[in-house]
Amino acid sequence: MNESILIAPSILGADYTRLADELAQIETADLVHFDVMDGHFVPNISFGVDLLRAVKASTALPVDVHLMVSNPEVQVEKYLDAGADSLTFHYEAATHANRLVSLIHDRGAKAAIALNPATPVCLLEPIIDDLDMVLVMTVNPGFGGQRLIESSLKKLRRLRRLCDEHGVNPRIEVDGGIVMGNVANVVASGANVIVAGSSVFSAADRARAIQELRRNAKRGASKPL
Ligand code: DX5
Ligand code: ZN
Repeated sequence: MNESILIAPSILGADYTRLADELAQIETADLVHFDVMDGHFVPNISFGVDLLRAVKASTALPVDVHLMVSNPEVQVEKYLDAGADSLTFHYEAATHANRLVSLIHDRGAKAAIALNPATPVCLLEPIIDDLDMVLVMTVNPGFGGQRLIESSLKKLRRLRRLCDEHGVNPRIEVDGGIVMGNVANVVASGANVIVAGSSVFSAADRARAIQELRRNAKRGASKPL
């Protein structure tokens, strides 16, 4: 079920004064997670499309763009133009989710929908067959460094069941509060893309933190759900 596990450091937690160096230090990861916050959908502002262009020019890794914005319909194309390899928008923010997913696919990128902690997985039932990935927020979005909400584990298992019922196998990404001590549990519950902000960028040795997350995640993959 869990083919490979992808580690996606979130550069929200990086030192912005030396971003190129930070990107070089995470080159053993699988994806770069790029958090866009608009100060409206979430109570914080991060960075936008110009920085995405700079990041794309500074890394060989695919960039996984997470749009925490209201009206993603008016934002998505700019991020695709800037080279987003996968694009995640929030279910709670989108008015026409199917249309957005088709647009992302037409542009050759991977399409994902994110769910806030209080949004149930059953809402994805009509669209799950079309998604490359589902992002289960394991904290309320807006800030790095929060604690994982424990009920997320049950939600991950429910999402796995929904996917099994539909005979589909989208990537399942977790984002928020993932640390060395809980990564095995989220993987055992069904996640296979691990976003990590503070647990990578607050470590003195980023490469080692990535390696340790990967090792612990693999342990979770060998445990039953
Ligand atoms: C939270 C963001 C996350 C954040 C994760 O709103 O979507 O990607 O950077 O940071 P940590 O791993 O520190 O919780
Ligand atoms: Zn994120």
